[in-house]
Amino acid sequence: MSFKRNIIITGGAGFIGSHVVRLFVNKYPEYRIINLDKLTYAGNLANLRDIENEENYIFVKGDICDYEAMQALFREYKVDGIIHLAAESHVDRSIKDPFTFAQTNVMGTLALLQAAKVYWDSLPEKYEGKRFYHISTDEVYGTLAFDGTFFTEDTKYDPHSPYSASKAGSDHFVRAFQDTYGLPALVTNCSNNYGPYQFPEKLIPLFINNIRQGKPLPVYGKGENVRDWLYVVDHARAIDVIFHAGKTGDTYNIGGFNEWKNIDLIKVIIETVDRLLGNPVGTSDHLITYVTDRLGHDLRYAIDSNKLKNELGWEPSLQFEEGIEKTVQWYLENPEWMEHVISGEYQQYYDSMYN
Ligand code: NAD
Ligand code: TYD
Repeated sequence: MSFKRNIIITGGAGFIGSHVVRLFVNKYPEYRIINLDKLTYAGNLANLRDIENEENYIFVKGDICDYEAMQALFREYKVDGIIHLAAESHVDRSIKDPFTFAQTNVMGTLALLQAAKVYWDSLPEKYEGKRFYHISTDEVYGTLAFDGTFFTEDTKYDPHSPYSASKAGSDHFVRAFQDTYGLPALVTNCSNNYGPYQFPEKLIPLFINNIRQGKPLPVYGKGENVRDWLYVVDHARAIDVIFHAGKTGDTYNIGGFNEWKNIDLIKVIIETVDRLLGNPVGTSDHLITYVTDRLGHDLRYAIDSNKLKNELGWEPSLQFEEGIEKTVQWYLENPEWMEHVISGEYQQYYDSMYN
């Protein structure tokens, strides 16, 4: 079967990647979607059961740091586009083990860039019709005060955690390949995502699961840090729009203008879980447990996504109230997914953090 495009999505078995794979496989039967994932603790093929047998979908287990394998993959599938999400993504882990973050996020991205460049350079049409789309985070911009300002595409990079430093490093390499070799690349920086299939070491799924099990909810510091939350399917929609219509060499911020102080968000989660479980109001309030703050904990993130709205017409489709309701409902209806992903290696990590 011949396809109009051959697109690698890296990290497609992870949280955001699985939503991007699902969207592309369903919406574009004329594209072949190659999901390249190492299946670390965060990668889970159970996230993609509904599309795994589609004719335009292929899963390849591989490591983005393996340059030879990446070169072979580009050649074998005649890849003309890549949407790169594979990464180590959890700040707390990066504080414990920064080397893995530098290796995967910086060296892995570099291996992909070089593999794309070498393969596309070998073709008669070179970079014509090609695209290297790198998915990054708002955390590269550092932190904001409580002053109503936002991160824009012009905000200077100022990463503070090993995670954000490694993402910043990878973003710089992407831009260096664009500027030095003319590689047709673009970068987007998105705010915190939430929704189904998020690994339960991140705030929202962790807390939903702990409430369900009557376990303590570890609130870092005073719970006053602010994050800007976007429903993951809206991020996937933005990626679709930008992959097809974004300007080569450009950067777009993606966010929902939806800032929440952690403690206020946690109260919404408790209220929603208790209500959906049929518990009386206030049942799980006592689970809130203030713990030692995260080292270097960024105070506030807030994204200005007006450029994306004005230039490409993207806007979030879901209000937060609806998104959080759907999300809590999904986790409560899929306890077997949760049990499966938190067995094994993750359980040892969690026990080492909190026991
Ligand atoms: P995730 O941790 O859920 O998934 C990461 C995926 O990458 C996993 O499937 C994992 O197996 C895979 N992976 C890790 N190392 C790999 C390697 N060496 N080779 C191949 N695959 C490997 O992450 P996520 O939350 O879905 O984030 C995806 C991307 O989006 C990341 O680049 C992250 O920096 C970025 N991002 C995340 C958020 C968020 O709120 N989660 C916000 C903005 C940007
Ligand atoms: P997280 O989901 O890890 O995302 P990020 O650090 O990339 O923003 O955390 C979101 C916020 O919640 C962040 O301010 C840290 C805080 N947090 C807690 O208070 N307790 C927790 O157990 C976790 C995982 C996070």
